[in-house]
Amino acid sequence: MGGYEAGFRDLTEEHRDRDLPVEGSIPDWLDGALYRNGPARWSVGDAEADHWFDGLAHLTRFEFDDGGVRYTNRFPRTSAYRAAMEEESFAGQFSSTDGYLARVKSMLAGESTDNANVHVARLGGDLVALTETPNWLRIDPESLENRGTITYGDDLTAHHVTAHLRRDPETGDHWGYFTRFGRTTEYVLFRIPEGTTRREQVASVAVDRPAYMHSFALTAEYAVLVEPPLTTHPARFLLPGSGGFIDNYDWHPDRGTRFLVFRRDSGELVREATVPAFFTFHTANAFETAGENDDATALVVDLVAYDDDSAVTDLSIAALRGGDAGFPSGELRRYRLPLDGGDPAYDHLADDVEMPRFSPEVHTREYEHVFAQSTEMEGGNALVRVDAGDGTGDDAGVAERWEEAGVYSGEPIFVPHPDGTEEADGVVLSLCLDADAERSFLLVCDGELTELARAPLPHVVPFGFHGEYFRS
Ligand SMILES: [Fe+2]
Repeated sequence: MGGYEAGFRDLTEEHRDRDLPVEGSIPDWLDGALYRNGPARWSVGDAEADHWFDGLAHLTRFEFDDGGVRYTNRFPRTSAYRAAMEEESFAGQFSSTDGYLARVKSMLAGESTDNANVHVARLGGDLVALTETPNWLRIDPESLENRGTITYGDDLTAHHVTAHLRRDPETGDHWGYFTRFGRTTEYVLFRIPEGTTRREQVASVAVDRPAYMHSFALTAEYAVLVEPPLTTHPARFLLPGSGGFIDNYDWHPDRGTRFLVFRRDSGELVREATVPAFFTFHTANAFETAGENDDATALVVDLVAYDDDSAVTDLSIAALRGGDAGFPSGELRRYRLPLDGGDPAYDHLADDVEMPRFSPEVHTREYEHVFAQSTEMEGGNALVRVDAGDGTGDDAGVAERWEEAGVYSGEPIFVPHPDGTEEADGVVLSLCLDADAERSFLLVCDGELTELARAPLPHVVPFGFHGEYFRS
């Protein structure tokens, strides 16, 4: 039986608007497009990228129409792509000592990369490919060709930026944060009004030892940064000289993990709370709830927690290609942050999950279902639905599961039925690797993770990161 290493081989093929065969039945209300992003090539000639996160950006589009699905995939012809192809070298972008987070450093030195390989969003009417520098790409929604980097309608200086924007379900505004290195280094919370590419600064907070943060949480009234103690000294970024990820950020568990809670309307930092150290990439949903006292508010923040920073450091492409990388094991936790000063605490929701997603209809609201990829890898890995139950953790856990021997699933993206009445009314889309057949397929399940259809691709799409579905 094939292993997951097939998901880390270089992809070189591109297809345009190719009809995929469909086994089963795709609901005919599904008439939009799923876009996904992720690294898909790590070697050119003798040169090899060091870290999984450093592969060349690759976009896929699955366009649904009347029960059919058409497939397009493309490496945007970025300057990073051309440099890799024409010089057969990853030097200057990602070399062995100049990896993922060192790209931020390159950018400060004026050598920014445009290898936007993390996520997608729709901003100012454009499809945009996102990464953790401000060099986001405008992408043609049909051909997936690069139309150049985005022009921001503001004059903010940003260095390390989240690629996980949060869209407000009421206003359509996108929210995010960045780190700005300087004499005073700051975390900056910003909002991009719907229909624009203008980042409006909502709040900022000075920080002596900025952390590596990957995503954040939004409730109806608050924004929450989750700051693990994976920190750097700003001088390391501001001084000349190179250094890889490990050299720039260090794990300081004694510092604990800090929650920073901002009011969205005023930008006021209303709560800081430090808890025993954990690392996290991904929050799931967050919402406001009643606190212990009747008139107090508490925030619920669901996230995938790791004991330490090995979730970042263990993912070298050489180890992954060898099939012997230790995939880190994350725990889905429900943190409860009282805003009146009480101690935060968490409930355990599930073990061994990543890529948590939920219905966009329930974003910032109390909710029940988290869809996630299981990270238990034994000849395949499952998709799971974790139900929060009564919210105490007592009756929370994996309620539904889809799995098949030899199949490795990807991030499950939930698309709500346009006329749905229940939170789970809709479909789950996941790009899966069939390791035995050595090809990927798009899986379509219902909200109970019962398979409705699958559409095999003509090749393997390497394991990617994130995507979004946009209605037509
Ligand atoms: Fe992510």
